[in-house]
Amino acid sequence: MTDSHGTPGVDPETLRRLAHDALLTARDRTALLTGSVDDGELTAQHSPLMSPLVWDLAHIGNQEELWLLRNVGGREAMRPEIDGLYDAFEHPRATRPSLPLLAPAEARAYAAEVRGRALDLLEGAELHEGGRPLERAAFAFGMIAQHEQQHDETMLITHQLRAGPAVLTAPQPPAPTDDAALAAEVLVPAGPFTMGTSTEPWALDNERPAHRREVAAFHLDTAPVTCGAYQRFIEDGGYTDARWWAPEGWAMVREHALSAPLFWHREAGQWLRRRFGVTEPVPADEPVLHVSWYEADAYARWAGRRLPTETEWEKAARHDPASGRSRRYPWGDEDPTADRANLGQRHLRPSAAGAYAAGRSPYGAGQLMGDVWEWTSSDLLPYPGFAAFPYREYSEVFFGPDHKVLRGGSFAVDPVACRGTFRNWDLPVRRQIFSGFRTARDA
Ligand code: AVJ
Ligand code: FE
Repeated sequence: MTDSHGTPGVDPETLRRLAHDALLTARDRTALLTGSVDDGELTAQHSPLMSPLVWDLAHIGNQEELWLLRNVGGREAMRPEIDGLYDAFEHPRATRPSLPLLAPAEARAYAAEVRGRALDLLEGAELHEGGRPLERAAFAFGMIAQHEQQHDETMLITHQLRAGPAVLTAPQPPAPTDDAALAAEVLVPAGPFTMGTSTEPWALDNERPAHRREVAAFHLDTAPVTCGAYQRFIEDGGYTDARWWAPEGWAMVREHALSAPLFWHREAGQWLRRRFGVTEPVPADEPVLHVSWYEADAYARWAGRRLPTETEWEKAARHDPASGRSRRYPWGDEDPTADRANLGQRHLRPSAAGAYAAGRSPYGAGQLMGDVWEWTSSDLLPYPGFAAFPYREYSEVFFGPDHKVLRGGSFAVDPVACRGTFRNWDLPVRRQIFSGFRTARDA
């Protein structure tokens, strides 16, 4: 009954409301991230790895104009002369500050104008099964809400990279509530499971279609690797021993004289870190953050273990041995809540390992959603039957051995852009992202 963008069980009016709410939630976050610094900081480049915040703001509006107003709505371009400026493939991030970008007030007005028209369009859009692919199940509206939230995570990374005193604050995440110590690892027995999805309404092209995969038995860490465990790797000479490193990773360590995760430094025998403008002791029980794939891979080898494949990760997160089904999240099909996962920039750091007992998977693994993006050993590749939709530049042009897959989402990602099937990716040298990892071993 359902095709690859089908919507079993979700009626069009519910999707219309969900899309409306998701767009508003994303804009609130964008307003906070772009409203908490002055215009000088909005147009400055805080790192060559990142765009000026004002670029992200207008790019969010421009993508919304392109996909919702022009492609869904059939409208003319509002400002054709700016399209090239906000095309991520035309201008690498490092060059964006020198472009004739819209000034902050103009960028805000443009994004707001587009948004008003997009919400009008949503009211009358044909969201039912027989509608056009972009409108069906409100896909394009969901895609654009996800896109804005992805840039909200990108902008939070820019906030982390900026110098100067803190401008963002958030409450501390909850501590673990279990009395007993958790087992270090869980066993996922051998057997097939369903990977990917053909029914999740707003799943992006690279998450499709659903397909069966055989998985051999493996053990997986119950929680992400902590800063304390990672310190033991450092103190054991991890960064000075080529044995643990992939050749390109060892070259990176040597070239940049790396000795710890990004934002860490040592003072009077203690590890400190800078987090959103505040310097603080590195918390031993918190998942390690800001490590590259090469660092994760080296740690795993040092520990006598390995990174999980993304197939293993998804089975541990989604497979329900009782029903044989793959579910949306580790805890089931229900939406994320504040007691299940650290998502949505509600907190500005990961929760301690062992938190979120209510979010664990049937196998007993915790914190698979939220807290830190988890590096896997896998290259970003298409699933069998992949079809680019709606544009090749979202996923397809990144397929291949250059990009490694990250799973699960960080504290910085909104639930709309994160689910058991969601696939993120980056270059293996990147560490400004909110990346951590957990390890695995064959059973
Ligand atoms: C899927 C997170 C790697 O931020 O580069 C944003 C998402 N694509 N705009 C990115 C994306 C186009 C993408 N990631
Ligand atoms: Fe984008």
